[in-house]
Amino acid sequence: MTDLKKYTVAASGKMRQVAYDKLNNAVNLLAWQQSGQVPQKQFDEWLSKADALYSAANIKIDENMLNKAPRLKVIAQAAVGYDNIDVAACTARGIAVGHTPGVLDDAVADLAYGLIIDSARHLVRGSRHVRSGRWGERKGLGLSCDLARKTLGIIGMGNIGSALIPRAKASKMKIIYHNRHQRTDDSKLGAEYVSFEILLEQADFIVITATLNPSTKGMFDSKAFKRMKKTASLINIARGAIVDSEALYNALVTGEIAYAALDVTDPEPLPGDHKLLTLDNITVTPHMASATVETRDAMALLTVNNILAGLEDLPLPAQVPDQWVDA
Ligand code: GLV
Repeated sequence: MTDLKKYTVAASGKMRQVAYDKLNNAVNLLAWQQSGQVPQKQFDEWLSKADALYSAANIKIDENMLNKAPRLKVIAQAAVGYDNIDVAACTARGIAVGHTPGVLDDAVADLAYGLIIDSARHLVRGSRHVRSGRWGERKGLGLSCDLARKTLGIIGMGNIGSALIPRAKASKMKIIYHNRHQRTDDSKLGAEYVSFEILLEQADFIVITATLNPSTKGMFDSKAFKRMKKTASLINIARGAIVDSEALYNALVTGEIAYAALDVTDPEPLPGDHKLLTLDNITVTPHMASATVETRDAMALLTVNNILAGLEDLPLPAQVPDQWVDA
């Protein structure tokens, strides 16, 4: 086994302690374990000597950043999404890119399911109602709706979408989905493949679990909202920019759709005075779908394993699919 102590690894944000300990034992680690961002000047200096980068997904990894890091062999991001990384630029420089698929599916599907239930059953609105001292009035909150026999439409049927299916089935929902390609195992999964337009028209709850890429950016625009049922809810646990925030605001104000529950927003973080937050028919959580102790530890350890493999010129345990080479 190669002595990895000769390698320097820079981290762009705070790491879970288990990951810090494992990496610190193995390599020369430059990490910012304090709260807040590592100062840019400090980070640039680390990049100039880094053989690997532990990306906490809080930075843009583009040509400009890569030019500051001429020694990089591997970049491992502690997230499944990697839309902040110019993968083609990394590939051109021979830099392997890793991410964390698989280990967060249950946590993210749980939050998505929670937001479906919130959209239907007014959990957040009910809590606001009580906190504002209006329990006695009852008026204003209105009745909620059953999930049983409603249609859930999933946009993007990958690991997270698949993990959502049994949860929704527990509530007796019917499931349709739209994906770039129909899955060959969809009848086994218990979901019916439909076009984007049919999904918009038929779903009572739409959950976005797709990746952000040029074909999904702004996919939920004013045209899409007009096609949805007036009683429908939109749940986004993927990436904020898949939804046009201005169009969503208008759809919620005019009643084109009933409710939105967002764990991701555009912009992100969403400023406290953003107009979406003036609405009653929205729940916003701060991009926390994978934020459980167990899942964040698993993501951090997979990130460390990606780095160690990359430094040893071994295949990464989880390399981004864009870098897969057809055999
Ligand atoms: C979180 O959003 C992730 O991509 O893991």
